[in-house]
Amino acid sequence: MANVKAKMILDKNYQIAKVDERIYGSFIEHLGRAVYGGIYEPGHPEADEQGFRKDVIDLVKELQVPIVRYPGGNMVSAYNWEDGVGPKEDRPRRLELAWRTIETNEVGTNEFADWAKKVGAEVMMAVNLGTRGIDAARNFIEYTNHPGGTYWSDLRRSHGYEQPHNIKTWCLGNEMDGSWQIGHKTAHEYGRIAQETGKAMKLVDPTIELVACGSSSSGMPTFPEYEATTLDLAYDHLDFISLHQYYGNRSNDPANFLAKNLDMDHFIKTVISTCDYIKAKKRSKKSINLSFDEWNVWYHSNQADREIEPWSIAPPQLEDHYNFEDALLVGSMLITFLQHADRVKMAAMAQLVNVIAPIMTENNGRAWKQTIFYPYMHTSVFGRGISLKPILTTPKYDSKDFTDVPYVDSAAVYNEENEEVTIFLVNKHLESSMPIDIDLRSFEDYKLVEHIELVNDDLKAVNTADHQAVAPQSNKDSKLDNGVLSANLAKTSWNVIRLKKS
Ligand code: AHR
Repeated sequence: MANVKAKMILDKNYQIAKVDERIYGSFIEHLGRAVYGGIYEPGHPEADEQGFRKDVIDLVKELQVPIVRYPGGNMVSAYNWEDGVGPKEDRPRRLELAWRTIETNEVGTNEFADWAKKVGAEVMMAVNLGTRGIDAARNFIEYTNHPGGTYWSDLRRSHGYEQPHNIKTWCLGNEMDGSWQIGHKTAHEYGRIAQETGKAMKLVDPTIELVACGSSSSGMPTFPEYEATTLDLAYDHLDFISLHQYYGNRSNDPANFLAKNLDMDHFIKTVISTCDYIKAKKRSKKSINLSFDEWNVWYHSNQADREIEPWSIAPPQLEDHYNFEDALLVGSMLITFLQHADRVKMAAMAQLVNVIAPIMTENNGRAWKQTIFYPYMHTSVFGRGISLKPILTTPKYDSKDFTDVPYVDSAAVYNEENEEVTIFLVNKHLESSMPIDIDLRSFEDYKLVEHIELVNDDLKAVNTADHQAVAPQSNKDSKLDNGVLSANLAKTSWNVIRLKKS
């Protein structure tokens, strides 16, 4: 067996960048039970006056989600935003083609903006560039962001929303590179419509930020040419390019599965290079940042989804029940974002409630936390500040698809204002714990606050409404002596080591 010991140097002067808190964003799509039966269930004992579940709101607040993407996803590519505003009794029921359900439109833009306020999040709104285009998008932003005195802004006011929502972040369509997307486009077709739609939207509200679609995954045959062409055509009006990626452990090979954030890292690096190549080509001073606005583990529910009959309202689609190893990979993916804090400025765990989500609900019943809830919560709550570059020495392994996989993944965030440092670590070793010594050279007066860990002997352990088999616990054995923090990272574990100036 390899020498199972790791070492790290952490210095406040080795800085990557300030973490943009929007990397802890999430996503609610009109899909399955995300909206209906998820965030919204009038008649539920926990429903508020608008029908939003307060138990779900509390869990979202625990995650401190700063921004939520809405309303899709694939769904947005055939969505008429007008269907979801105005008196509820007048709203049409539609065939929702992306997921083949019935959309009642009981919840739409205004209700979602209200819900986002309740959870303390911004809205990241997507426009339909599948079946629609410039006209619907410019009307939509006039409706949401213009104060009043025009047709669409006054329509919003007549709907009971005197003040504009001032939505600052907009996605120009969704996964337009994918053949499954309604209104799928070649890179050239997409780049042109993104440029012209973005131009019109910024004429209505120049303060917005725009996200263009990149590739639906690093495995797409058009990656990274799709990004290059889109950026070449639409650079002037763009602020972000989006990345999407889901992973699964279909062949039940945990060592290989836990290494998949290396693919994510490579994906991010390639998109950064592509953005900077176009920047150079255009002699531009502006850099395009990355919005990793769909990411997660997604595969457990694939078979069940094939068995769902079409055209029902809010069927249980994409309801992955996450296990312990999924939580470990989610932790490593979050660490990967922190390692790229200089360019990954926004991200969205897909999704937030019921649909491939950290939060699950029972219809008319309880709400509960999946395994992946915990690394997401820990990084969101403790990972705000400056992302530091840990100098890490760790043994490595090879797996089916990867070579030189570090057994330990790490990121550290220094919150200067609160005088706190948090170190996030994953030990991927399947058999052995990993002692680690962390040289805290520039944090002389800091004391150990706590070492939180997520451990379980069973990689396949799952949480349910009745039992939290995977939940954080405290590791009391870690100690800080003479500026060196010594900890033992349990085999296959997620670790959060918190320090504060005394
Ligand atoms: O998040 C689930 C789906 O995954 C989204 O609708 C789509 O954008 C992606 O393919």
